[in-house]
Amino acid sequence: MHDDVELVRARVDIFDLVGERVQLKRSGSSWRGLCPFHMEKTPSFYVNPQRGRYTCFGCQATGDIFDWVMRTENLDFRGALEMLAQRAGVTLSKRSGPEADEAERAVQALEVAARFFRSELNLNASALDYVHSRGLDEATIEEWEIGFAPENPEALPSHIRGEGLRLEDAMAAGLLSGSPMEGYRPFFRGRVMFPIRNDKGRVVAFGGRAMGDDQPKYVNSRDSIVFNKSLTLYGLHRAKKSLMESRSILITEGYLDVIACHKAGVQGAVAPLGTAMNERHAELIKRWATQATLLYDSDRAGRTAARKASSILAAAGVSSRVAVLPLGSDPDSLFATSGGAALREVVGNAVSPLRFEVLALEQELGLGDDYWREARAVLAQATNYLERDQIIAELAARHPTARFGLQQAVESFRREVEALSPRGRRRAAPRVGQDEEVALPSAPERMILRAALRDEHRASVWSLLSEEGLVVSPPGRALAAEILDCAAADRELDGGELLALLSEASRAAMARLESPSEGPVTEVAIHDSIKKLTGQRDLRANRAAFESGKED
Ligand code: UTP
Ligand code: MN
Repeated sequence: MHDDVELVRARVDIFDLVGERVQLKRSGSSWRGLCPFHMEKTPSFYVNPQRGRYTCFGCQATGDIFDWVMRTENLDFRGALEMLAQRAGVTLSKRSGPEADEAERAVQALEVAARFFRSELNLNASALDYVHSRGLDEATIEEWEIGFAPENPEALPSHIRGEGLRLEDAMAAGLLSGSPMEGYRPFFRGRVMFPIRNDKGRVVAFGGRAMGDDQPKYVNSRDSIVFNKSLTLYGLHRAKKSLMESRSILITEGYLDVIACHKAGVQGAVAPLGTAMNERHAELIKRWATQATLLYDSDRAGRTAARKASSILAAAGVSSRVAVLPLGSDPDSLFATSGGAALREVVGNAVSPLRFEVLALEQELGLGDDYWREARAVLAQATNYLERDQIIAELAARHPTARFGLQQAVESFRREVEALSPRGRRRAAPRVGQDEEVALPSAPERMILRAALRDEHRASVWSLLSEEGLVVSPPGRALAAEILDCAAADRELDGGELLALLSEASRAAMARLESPSEGPVTEVAIHDSIKKLTGQRDLRANRAAFESGKED
């Protein structure tokens, strides 16, 4: 399989492939055109044949030939591979042999069991009552194939046999435990059943919820030849269609949370299965989305989980936001008490992970001394100091020292945070020009560099960073080169993440450009700066022409 992928990759030119849908013009070593994934008037979509990748700086879409086909043809990875293999004249090696057969038989047993559980639900009044008490109506039960595993230990094995399947296969699928000698027992009994389908839509496992307060509350299938819980997200096969369009995934903690989100019209919702999100989940998520919204509890445990998840996602190149739920509720209970609009609003108001931590602290602690102490500690760990300082400025108005003057409160709060910051995360010098030893980029260069790290302005200045003769001061060129290098690191980084990737020295240099005396980054200021820089370049060119003319 891996060899097939590499063979196909070697034979398909991404320029030809993308060129069939996008008109491309040469731009340096890349090709440039109008991004097919979002509306734009000036091209910010690049194809780099050497690296075999496309990247849009406007909407952050990026990927290789397989991602391209998955996205433009609405296919999963296998489908994209098959399509590209055909195009490249590569015959794919078949997945076959005893193992493939065994896996196929296990999935068949799981699908038979799903239908069986589904019909059992209607035969068991207390299970139906429980399901209804959880707010699940007939349409939802049907759509999510919710079922019931009966107490009777004979029921499932005899149904499996009756369908012409072998108990060994149901055992391999994790539906039964035991052995041919001692007999087989159902793994799930007396539980409400949630079938777990993989991204291809096949049943690979189940989650079973106790009715009432029995422990454990949920039992999930153990990993098997067809199920790996770190590679599976509940709801992904239903979320797929929406993810194809939005590339924006919503991550919740539980089965019923996923279902509630879909009912509320938030259709890109999934959940890991009884485990925290890990790197492998992140890789899977990256195939489907460039952006994730985390919808975790806002208690301390949820906050820790959200922080971890967002850093795992960032490492995989998926940017994340965190939604703040009312204290003590999860998406399912919020939907039940306040309805779909309330849940959509919470999702729509998602904030950056840093801001989430600060908000969640306030929810948990109120605005007392404990709050300020913990908020300082949280802010001190921030890598995106642009955002950090913005939050500091907002919070300072409510800081106890604000009654002595807002500006002073901002400064003293920031000093407190910096005192706790790991070395190198502190702002190097608060004011431009204060430290005359440090050479700075020219004023218009500074504006361009600051704009390059701001998501809303990035597209309008990005090409200028590499344009010949435009950013010419040595410190300006050094910063521009490093920003371009970091952005080329194959990721869909937003400004803050890009900043976090810069070297310590460059971060400090960028920090100096963010002093209040620098003035805000606006379209007008950017426009003026571009005019100045091109004017200076023309002037230099004229002067050079004149000088060389004199020598003749
Ligand atoms: P929660 O304890 O938050 O439950 O577990 P929940 O999703 O809100 O469930 P309800 O609303 O009480 O029914 C979140 C997820 O953690 C896993 C399950 O996947 C669950 O959906 N979990 C939880 C387990 O695997 N085992 C457990 O005993 C509890
Ligand atoms: Mn719940």
